[in-house]
Amino acid sequence: MFKDLFSLQGRVALVTGGSRGIGKMIAAGFLSQGAAKVYITARKAGPCEATAKELTAKYGGECIALPIDISTMAGIEMLAAEIKKREPKLDILVNNAGAAWGADFDEFRESGWDKVMNLNLKTPFFLTKALAAPLRAAASAEKPAKVINIASIDGIFVNPMETYSYAASKAGLIHLTRRMAVKLIGDHVVVSAIAPGPFKSDMNKAARDNADEVSKRVPSGRIGTDEDMAGAAIYLASRAGDYVVGATIPVDGGIVYANPGIKGDGWG
Ligand SMILES: NC(=O)c1ccc[n+]([C@@H]2O[C@H](COP(=O)([O-])OP(=O)(O)OC[C@H]3O[C@@H](n4cnc5c(N)ncnc54)[C@H](OP(=O)(O)O)[C@@H]3O)[C@@H](O)[C@H]2O)c1
Repeated sequence: MFKDLFSLQGRVALVTGGSRGIGKMIAAGFLSQGAAKVYITARKAGPCEATAKELTAKYGGECIALPIDISTMAGIEMLAAEIKKREPKLDILVNNAGAAWGADFDEFRESGWDKVMNLNLKTPFFLTKALAAPLRAAASAEKPAKVINIASIDGIFVNPMETYSYAASKAGLIHLTRRMAVKLIGDHVVVSAIAPGPFKSDMNKAARDNADEVSKRVPSGRIGTDEDMAGAAIYLASRAGDYVVGATIPVDGGIVYANPGIKGDGWG
């Protein structure tokens, strides 16, 4: 009964922003569990193709690079067309590509708002919509298709950094996950999300370059690893996660749910 609970044998997945960081961790995890094909996207073709080559060589399945900028509707349509041209069915979509922007409140520019909101919030909605046909074609009551949105703990608690659009985009994505789940569960497409804490990446340079310092603020006493991120994504993508609908799982070493927040006697 529990055999192959976490298996992704034969599945076809798309991981946006899979060339590095969290997206690469997830793409590698899917391939390690038997996924047949994992498509990855990024703007820069070189690193995207290098990662696809690296992961294909390391695991059984095939990792395929589709270097496309998905921050615009034209890019979203182009990516969806490429997938639909190749695949009648898409089992798993991971909306991972994201951007951050930080600036003082009084200096915050409109460009820093639009860039982040477009890629982090608008793109997951319209890319899922553009890929609804192959997702629905892959989905059944016995084997639902999956949409996994990569949010952030910054959408749940207030990060002291002045990343206004980032925080709003991630809080929005968490609620969008619920709203889309309501609609798509009727088609056996399960929508859920992961809210990562600190993981090494180009975006999270603090975790990458000052892991010891960042670790002091994490109840688990360390930053996240490839296994932590892949584990959560494999869980949601596989049979094991079929009943997790509309939920956002923090994968953060306890920052959100096991953190006293303030030192001393507390609030009362
Ligand atoms: N690392 C963390 O600690 C952390 C914590 C919480 C949440 N997250 C979330 O996790 C996700 C991945 O972040 P990361 O830390 O792995 O960041 P990252 O290292 O900067 O990776 C971002 C990925 O997205 C791609 N990308 C960026 N803009 C794109 C665009 N317009 N079109 C297509 N691809 C694009 C990048 O490739 P190109 O640059 O070549 O386009 C890259 O593959 C983001 O949604 C982020 O908000 C990360």
